[in-house]
Amino acid sequence: MCGIVGAAAKRDIVPVLVEGLRRLEYRGYDSCGVAVQINNTLQRVRTVSRVADLDTQIQTHAIHADTGIAHTRWATHGAPSTRNAHPMLSREQIALVHNGIIENHDALRVRLQALGYVFESQTDTEVIAHLVHSLYAGDLFSAVAAAVKQLEGAYAIAVVARDQPQCVVGARAGSPLVIGVGLHEHFIASDALALAGTTNQIAYLDEGDVAEILPDQFRVQNAHGDAVVRTVQTVRVDESGAALGPYRHYMQKEIFEQPRALADTLEGIESPAPELFGEQAPAYFARVKQVLVLACGTSYYAGLVAAQWLETLAKIPTRVEIASEYRYRESVPDPDTLVVVISQSGETADTLAALRHARSLGQTITLAICNVASSAMVRETQLRFLTRAGAEIGVASTKAFTTQLAALFLLALSLAKVRNTLPEQTIVAQMRHLRHLPRAVSAVLALEPQLMAWAARFATRQHALFLGRGLHYPIALEGALKLKEISYIHAEAYPAGELKHGPLALVTDAMPVVTVAPNDALLEKVRSNMAEVRARGGELYVLTDAHTQVLTEEGVHVVRLAAHYGLLSPVLHVVALQLLAYHTAVTLGHDVDKPRNLAKSVTVE
Ligand code: G6P
Repeated sequence: MCGIVGAAAKRDIVPVLVEGLRRLEYRGYDSCGVAVQINNTLQRVRTVSRVADLDTQIQTHAIHADTGIAHTRWATHGAPSTRNAHPMLSREQIALVHNGIIENHDALRVRLQALGYVFESQTDTEVIAHLVHSLYAGDLFSAVAAAVKQLEGAYAIAVVARDQPQCVVGARAGSPLVIGVGLHEHFIASDALALAGTTNQIAYLDEGDVAEILPDQFRVQNAHGDAVVRTVQTVRVDESGAALGPYRHYMQKEIFEQPRALADTLEGIESPAPELFGEQAPAYFARVKQVLVLACGTSYYAGLVAAQWLETLAKIPTRVEIASEYRYRESVPDPDTLVVVISQSGETADTLAALRHARSLGQTITLAICNVASSAMVRETQLRFLTRAGAEIGVASTKAFTTQLAALFLLALSLAKVRNTLPEQTIVAQMRHLRHLPRAVSAVLALEPQLMAWAARFATRQHALFLGRGLHYPIALEGALKLKEISYIHAEAYPAGELKHGPLALVTDAMPVVTVAPNDALLEKVRSNMAEVRARGGELYVLTDAHTQVLTEEGVHVVRLAAHYGLLSPVLHVVALQLLAYHTAVTLGHDVDKPRNLAKSVTVE
């Protein structure tokens, strides 16, 4: 959501801070700011514009410093405004940036007001700045360590003090924070990606850690106050993800990267095997009796597709739950459940909390399907499969989704193998299909001009309905989500069979109805649903495959994919819907990569 960068060095680090913000900006972009320590003063620049504007302001004021912190914000407490932008200052002596949400901010504010602190923003963050100030007596590290003890909620913070040159203190609980090690310089960031190009030597802080960075050293204290060593690792940060290349937007680039992302994800995998998911997977897979999938947003829809694959191929009962629901409801735990968390970032607060909740109920066989190797979810699960989509910058997820599907299909086949539910030749045939996916997706991308033509019509509409059945109902859900996220057109998805139980009442000639109608066993049922729409004057946009009897006619627009792709068909149909949403948003002139109010990685509840 928000992003943090900090540095303590013996050179001008302002360009590093700005570049770090640029790399993190896709995660939160309501406002941004920097605070640096120069000649025993704190200088701050903030803007509700983008990082590019912040950079211009910094250049105008010719700001150079060897110590500082920076932040890009996704608003939770307090509207997006300059006043609410980080860094927050306390009495010109402490500057602080924060990711997360402080739950006891009201009580702390009342106490600090009684001590005479004046609040200038509506943020929970300002409370932490004043709290640190109230505890500061010349040693920032101790002040921060004492302050975080009083915080309830989630936080990653970075702090500088006017009177302590070349020193930044950070702390984390519930939100990630890393330390970057350079030559005579150290950095702090909410993600190693922020430091790409500066250092790949990274130490990951643990829950409850407080850390101090100076140019020549760093130290860490754990939640109990003990000095600890956090190992420095060499990380591979995907820098290529940051370059836009010939594309107009990251989302477009990422849609077109899908053949490559799928090929990378499947690279070297000849046949499904439990070992692909971790050393202990063979033993666990032999034991599990059911699967519980937990995820949010697009990743949740990947789970809905996977549930059908798991039941069809591996005959294993599967439940899929929205993480934010599961974590707070009473459920009936079973230790022989394989708990699968699906997450692009591996840091989504609700999914992480749902995982921890599942474990607290004794369900300890856990698997992460994730795109970020260093994420909390990958660290906290026993089993894992890393998708190799590469950095996904566009807020609306595309290549992460299709690579998750590839991973989940492998999971279904691997479980089928262990459970002996499929003949070997079927597994071989399905695997061949899976490996052919990159080429099949390329063929769908070639349909872009037809989807642009649909998009031109959609851009004039206020609402849209998406229909699908079976494996393609989750794809209709994902298509509707993509459209609403970036074009702001109200879109809803229904299983086509439910049409007559409500949504049909909405169908008029002003409501485009997108129907995902592959050439599968449900096609005739979907055709009946389409007839119901046409009978009410609704305009149909049908995604179908070659050789179906769905024909273009008055009020019926058809885009045809190449031959039906069997169980993997959802991976192809969703690509067409991604292109539809993308081009609709572009036609409307929206900021496709940074849609209003949304964030890439939702690390707060
Ligand atoms: C946010 C993003 C979505 C994403 C969801 C879950 O809402 O905008 O694109 O699907 O979070 O994120 P995750 O990283 O857990 O897949």
